[in-house]
Amino acid sequence: MEKELQKLAREAKSALEKVSGAEDLETLRVTFLGRKGKITALIRSVGSLPPEERPRMGLAANRLKEELQADFDEAEKRLKQAEDRFRAREEAVDVTLPGLGFARGRRHPITAALDEVIDIFTGLGFFLESGPEIETEYYNFDALNIPSDHPARDMHDTLYLEDGRVLRTHTSPVQIRTMEKTRPPLRMICAGKAFRADTADASHSPMFHQLEGLMVDREVSLADLKGVLAVFARRLFGEDTRLRFRPSFFPFTEPSAEVDISCVVCGGSGCRLCSRRGWLEILGAGMVDPEVFKAVGYDPEEWTGFAFGMGIERIAMLKHGIDDIRLFYENDLRFLHQF
Ligand code: PHE
Repeated sequence: MEKELQKLAREAKSALEKVSGAEDLETLRVTFLGRKGKITALIRSVGSLPPEERPRMGLAANRLKEELQADFDEAEKRLKQAEDRFRAREEAVDVTLPGLGFARGRRHPITAALDEVIDIFTGLGFFLESGPEIETEYYNFDALNIPSDHPARDMHDTLYLEDGRVLRTHTSPVQIRTMEKTRPPLRMICAGKAFRADTADASHSPMFHQLEGLMVDREVSLADLKGVLAVFARRLFGEDTRLRFRPSFFPFTEPSAEVDISCVVCGGSGCRLCSRRGWLEILGAGMVDPEVFKAVGYDPEEWTGFAFGMGIERIAMLKHGIDDIRLFYENDLRFLHQF
């Protein structure tokens, strides 16, 4: 039995020296130290020795077991270290290599201008509404007091669908839709696409964006309109911006005005951008016509309001000094990357 012990010890140690992986090691462990392993069997067989030999052999067998256990643990540690070293080499990152450049996306200048204008008005308590781009003549014209013989009804301006509906020529129909579903007082804005049968040139596009605002309450005055628009213009173009109202005409407002701001380039002294006038037109506005209130069932004796509408392309062009509206729709990355 003593010989057998020594033989097992040698066998196990030489096998351990040759072991090359975690799996091998585990197989070996089972072979020698497992429940049905060789050492375990030997320890068990001590019971069948003559009683006087049992203590000595039992001790020797257990010692061998402990020794081997330690050897196995040692081998396991060695293997793990080798593996870590291998991995460190394999997965090493060369920090001196040049990095990968990645293209950063950005908002389209129209989207950015829309967001900025929306932020200003929602900050003043106007809530954001939206409506369909395909409209009925009723919402696009009739309810806005645009009679059927008005020039805006002319085929020349309006894109008609075969079923008689139109691509909305402005965002004003959303005023009507909002008033129909909301009891006054209210403060709303609407932003979106509008369409007109225009040939594209430096200042025209058959599709463009408008932002529209409407406030209805008791005793709303022209001074309120002017105050709101002045705050808006200063936030958007700077604190020194001045505002000017020129009499104008819209069927849905009375009185109506065209609103100018002092030139964003020269500040009013006259330059090329403002054609030496010192002023730039940025929006149309006015006091809501009583006919419009009647169309949505508001009592014009009780309610008053103002409305305004602006072209977002124009705002973005003034902000960035862009002189051709077509640049917005060409999607030339060299242009878009500048914003
Ligand atoms: N809807 C007008 C347009 O498209 C703009 C406008 C809106 C004017 C609201 C006054 C009040 O030209």
